[in-house]
Amino acid sequence: MSSLRFDGRVVVVTGAGGGLGRTYALDFAKRGAKVVVNDLGGSAHGTSSSTSMADKVVAEIRAAGGTAVANYDSVEFGEKIVKVAIDNYGRIDVIVNNAGILRDKSFMNVSEEDWDLIMKVHLKGAYSVTRAAWPYFRKQNFGRVINTSSNSGMYGSFGQTNYAAAKMGLIGLSHSLALEGAKYNIFANSIIPTAGSRLTLTVMPEEIVDMLKPEFVTPLVVYLCHESCQENGKIFEAGGGWYGTVQSYRSVGKAIPNATAENIRDQWQTITNMKDAKHYESSKDCSAELIALASEMKEEQTAQESHSSGSSKTKSAVFFKEMHEGLGANANLVKNIKAIVLYIITDGKQELSRFTLDLKNQPFCVYEGDVKNGEKVTTTVTIADDDFVQLASGKLNPQKAFMAGKLKVKGNIMLLQKLGGILDGQRKAKI
Ligand code: NAI
Repeated sequence: MSSLRFDGRVVVVTGAGGGLGRTYALDFAKRGAKVVVNDLGGSAHGTSSSTSMADKVVAEIRAAGGTAVANYDSVEFGEKIVKVAIDNYGRIDVIVNNAGILRDKSFMNVSEEDWDLIMKVHLKGAYSVTRAAWPYFRKQNFGRVINTSSNSGMYGSFGQTNYAAAKMGLIGLSHSLALEGAKYNIFANSIIPTAGSRLTLTVMPEEIVDMLKPEFVTPLVVYLCHESCQENGKIFEAGGGWYGTVQSYRSVGKAIPNATAENIRDQWQTITNMKDAKHYESSKDCSAELIALASEMKEEQTAQESHSSGSSKTKSAVFFKEMHEGLGANANLVKNIKAIVLYIITDGKQELSRFTLDLKNQPFCVYEGDVKNGEKVTTTVTIADDDFVQLASGKLNPQKAFMAGKLKVKGNIMLLQKLGGILDGQRKAKI
């Protein structure tokens, strides 16, 4: 297998004066890339600055026969950093947004300055450098962006509200850059590294810091930035020699027309059930599903309104409306039936209309039209409009109607008898 080379490519690694960034810079240079080693050279809390950190890494690269140049600007000033790449090497191909600091405090103690500085370095920094490189990427139809997120953002972390918020922001940035960049062959991915560095020194015992060498994360970053890698808009994790990916999933959920807070409470199990949950590649895809469901609910509502306003083609409609209204108050009586009945109302020959009685999905309902969501019908009843009116008003005996061929039933016939009893009871009680 051929090795992954970066000859002719120009790579900017921010915060490359130490920790993870240094290992990326060294590996890219080893593989033929010209590297801009950016580092502000300050403390882990974002105070002070120096040229020594970036200079040291550039010296290391050059000593190994590689090509690199140092830059000491803060990542907030992306244009200056990208200019160094253009001025020195005439192009820019890869950006690894890696620079970072910490201002860990419990939320009660986070000051506005702590909040703003974390946003400025992590989020604004990644924006600023990527924004400055974007026109070059588009023009040359190639670009690779890595944004460094954190499991603090992905999973939450006590005492890191500011850092976690910024790191999760970087995932949103990557996902959206991926969508905008795809057609220009510009790919953006997020990484969640775990490594021993000065940032983790205070929270990890020394032997663990040793086990989690930054070098373990490097191969993932380098591969993702190679022209042969087609991954875009994803999140990858790496640490201690383990590599994986993380995705978000949305539950199937439940469409509840005109829901009340009580409906939500009663449907909580279904709403939050993660069985068959789905991953979406963009917000457009999940919004499209939601809008389709919402318009289905709207159609259903319009159909119900039209039959309650008497515009339905059948006389039976008014009885189905009564049935629907009765169900709300009597959900308990029918809750164990768990079936869907489809009524096909005819003029004796031709079909006039269909009504669905859904006693399977809460809130139980009756609506004009075919069964929604492709659910399986338990019983289908075909009956003439006039006969249904007779039947519903108790003037026609269901058994006699069935024997006379006025009532045709497909599927579970026993269910109908059970239901008839309940609906009869409702009627007698004038519900
Ligand atoms: P590090 O402190 O060794 O490296 C960060 C580098 O960024 C430092 O050399 C620092 O001087 C530089 N830097 C800070 N502010 C800058 C600015 N405004 N402009 C330019 N450079 C600046 O830390 P480490 O661990 O290597 O972190 C690298 C990235 O990985 C950070 O974004 C960090 O948040 C992230 N990360 C690290 C994890 C770990 O386990 N080490 C876990 C999750 C995320």
